[in-house]
Amino acid sequence: MSNRGNFSGRLGFILAAAGSAVGLGNIWRFPYLAGQNGGAAFLFIYMVFIFLLCFPVMVGEIAIGRKVGSDAYGSYRTLGGKRWGFLGIFGILAGIFILSFYNVVAGWAFGYFLEISFGDLLNHQDFGAFFGSYVNDVSDNLWFSLGFMVITAVIVSQGVQKGIEAANKIMMPSLYVILICLIVYSLTLPNAMAGVKFYLIPDLSEIKAQTIFDALRQAFFSLSLGMGALITYGSYVKKDQKIVSSAAIISAADTMVAFLSGLMIFPLVFSAGQSPTEGPPLVFMILPQIFHDMGPILGRIVGGSFFLLLCFAALTSTVSLLEVPAAFLVDQKKFPRKPVVWALALLVFILGLPSMVSQGMAGFEFLNKLPFYQGRDFLTFVSDMCDISLTVGGCLMCIFITYRWKIENMNTELKIGDDTYMGSLTQRYISFAIQYIGPILLSILSVLVIIDKFFGIEKVF
Ligand code: PFF
Repeated sequence: MSNRGNFSGRLGFILAAAGSAVGLGNIWRFPYLAGQNGGAAFLFIYMVFIFLLCFPVMVGEIAIGRKVGSDAYGSYRTLGGKRWGFLGIFGILAGIFILSFYNVVAGWAFGYFLEISFGDLLNHQDFGAFFGSYVNDVSDNLWFSLGFMVITAVIVSQGVQKGIEAANKIMMPSLYVILICLIVYSLTLPNAMAGVKFYLIPDLSEIKAQTIFDALRQAFFSLSLGMGALITYGSYVKKDQKIVSSAAIISAADTMVAFLSGLMIFPLVFSAGQSPTEGPPLVFMILPQIFHDMGPILGRIVGGSFFLLLCFAALTSTVSLLEVPAAFLVDQKKFPRKPVVWALALLVFILGLPSMVSQGMAGFEFLNKLPFYQGRDFLTFVSDMCDISLTVGGCLMCIFITYRWKIENMNTELKIGDDTYMGSLTQRYISFAIQYIGPILLSILSVLVIIDKFFGIEKVF
């Protein structure tokens, strides 16, 4: 085990784990879900989930990983026996499928970055139509998403410290700088305050069942929980480091980026007189229109910066997604890291092809309107199934800690390097959340989300 690598110190781990958490989920998905679910009302429920449930689950995952010092499968297996090993495999598979579609969307962002900064994307007139034809143009998409996967694989193949940690140390601070600059700019636009109000003043009558489901799945996805990413990263954390406070910083950093993304996007959208409820195309159709209206030079700078931000965020996440199966093969099968990483990257890229062509490409209409999935497309199907697997994975992890590993053993691990933990309020709160809130809330919500996705909750109840 000794040569599997480590983060150099606390900062390296926090930046890498925050990098995993901060991603397309924060900058692409969070704002559009908030836009569709009443803005501030969504933000409020989201924060409640992060605090009540997600932070304790994150602590639990990191504790499992650091205790064993192995990949997700090896960790569950060592602590729980062979039968629990399946939970690790379940997470590894979920990670592979998330990466398969995530890389397609990251490829769009990469393409938009290149074509806004160096090409003529902003010269178009109708960005809705442009996006439709863009995602259909598989020849371009193929190269952009292949390029993104290659960059991911280059980083992961360099190992934990020289690859993952080093890349995050550059990209995470850059990401914050770009984000802050864009917020300052967008808050100075006319009518920006209408966007701020929509985003920050909650109208609690907007809270519906859908708001709660969306907030929960988004919180899990955003913090990279429920599939072993943080078990894997936790396995590279040294024993003298405080897990609980690191997890608090990681959760706060992630929530902050989601929050700030909204603060950047809604003023832009409102000042341009656009609707915030556009859904997934918000970032790809509405924002380019706004960048276009800024004129050729400013639009290129602001738009290029925005999509560079999106690429950095996505890359720090794809790196962690690829690391999960890679760590499994390196730890369990003793394969050398480099070939494993490249083989996995190729496999995941191929698995992503159906998602890529499901966006309306001629000849693949059957993937565009799935009859068994309320007419949605294949990419949405994979993404929804992955969301469900994260909440189910999180629920099973809580059950695993409570009934198999035992809460006392988790607390013993958390105490290492943290003298004040035992007997603290935080300890009682984390233990309670993992034993009771996690299993109960997550099992109920997971079942309801499955019903909602396949049948539509309002039709069933
Ligand atoms: N947290 C990432 C995001 O918000 O974009 C997505 C993600 C990364 C999910 C890594 C799960 C994971 F293991």
